[in-house]
Formats: sequence, C-alpha cells, structure tokens
Amino acid sequence: MPTELSIRPATLHDVPHLVELATNTFRDTYRLLDDPDDIEAYVAEAFTADNFTALVQDPSSVLLVALAGEGQYVGYAHIAHTQPPPCVTGPAPVELSRLYLSESVIGNGYGAALMQAVHAVARRAGCQTVWLGVYDRNERARKFYTRWGFVDVGTKDFLFGGKLYADPIMAAAVPDF
Ligand SMILES: CC(C)(COP(=O)(O)OP(=O)(O)OC[C@H]1O[C@@H](n2cnc3c(N)ncnc32)[C@H](O)[C@@H]1OP(=O)(O)O)[C@@H](O)C(=O)NCCC(=O)NCCS
Repeated sequence: MPTELSIRPATLHDVPHLVELATNTFRDTYRLLDDPDDIEAYVAEAFTADNFTALVQDPSSVLLVALAGEGQYVGYAHIAHTQPPPCVTGPAPVELSRLYLSESVIGNGYGAALMQAVHAVARRAGCQTVWLGVYDRNERARKFYTRWGFVDVGTKDFLFGGKLYADPIMAAAVPDF
C-alpha cells in the first residue's frame, strides 16, 4: 500500500465526510453504467446526513471508515445484520451492504484491507457467512469479490431510477483468522 491506511468504526464526527465520500464514490462507480439523473436522484436520497447519523447510531450495523495518510477519507464499508434473501443458505449470515473506495486509491490493496476489517467485524459478531448484492455490470467489483471467494447464489430485486434490477447475490464463508 502506498500510504498507511487506518480503518475504524465511524462516529458522528465522520457524518459530513461520509456524505461527501459516499456521494462521490457512488457517482464515480456508476458514471459510465447508469443515467446521470438517476444517479443524482439516488445519492440525494440515500446519502444524507440523517441517514448516516442513523447508521452510526444503529446497534445492529457497523459502519467502517478508512483514512489514508493525514486523515483523508478514502473508503467506507457498512456491515448490516439484515434478513438475508432465501438464496443465502450459509450459516450465521451478515450483509456487506456497502464497500466503496475513492477512485484515486483503487488498485492499491486498500480494498483488501477493508475486506479483512469486514471479516474481523463479522467474526466478532459470531457471523460465518458474508453476503452482498452487486450490480451485474460492475465487473471490477465482481472480480474483486470472486478473488475473495464469493460465489453467485441467486439474485435480489434492486429498485434504481424507477426500474427493477435483478442484482446478483454473492456469498462467502468468513475465514477463521
Ligand atoms: C471493490 C473495491 C473496494 C476493491 O478495491 P480494489 O482497490 O479494487 O482491490 P484491492 O484492494 O484488492 O486492490 C487490488 C489491486 O491492488 C494491487 N495491490 C497493491 N498492493 C496490494 C496489497 N498490499 N494487497 C492487495 N493488493 C494490492 C493488486 O495487485 C491489485 O491489482 P490488480 O487489480 O491490477 O490485480 C474497489 O474497486 C471499489 O471501491 N470500487 C468502486 C466501488 C464498488 O464498486 N463497490 C462495490 C459495490 S457492490
């Protein structure tokens, strides 16, 4: 990794930074894949200070922030104890509901560091399976998850821009260490 990365649970102090980071990373990720108006409508609704405040305070989920160098917000992950879809059959499942890095730091091993932190959170909660939904056209993320042992187990409807998408659901065992 080029610069040291520090990963920790988010606090209320992080909320404005998370709003900005989540908005920018979502825009960058889907810019070439989706309609710009749909992207703007989605980020305006999903990545509000109120929503991130609620996530930070939610005892049933963990929000991790990743900071590089002198405290530059470069990534975040959200792990949530949600009801998995029926296609997730592994034991003690937990959802990785968001995993995003700033475009400028992708390809440096920070994604790997965040995934290891997600595993540590899952282990501490006694979870043995991580599952997630991913846009099927997001090939970079699909390849990353495959490298981490995730396999397709089914699909789940995702409403975006007024259209329903059948997002692939991927799942993997949480490593023991
Ligand atoms: C998904 C995501 C978090 C993965 O992060 P990443 O930086 O691409 O993945 P990694 O951390 O494994 O880095 C991989 C690359 O860094 C290189 N690398 C350098 N140092 C490394 C290290 N110490 N450890 C691991 N890889 C390292 C690897 O060789 C690899 O290069 P390659 O892709 O050319 O083979 C990231 O691509 C991302 O944020 N994408 C946009 C958001 C997104 O799509 N999220 C998922 C929504 S479902």
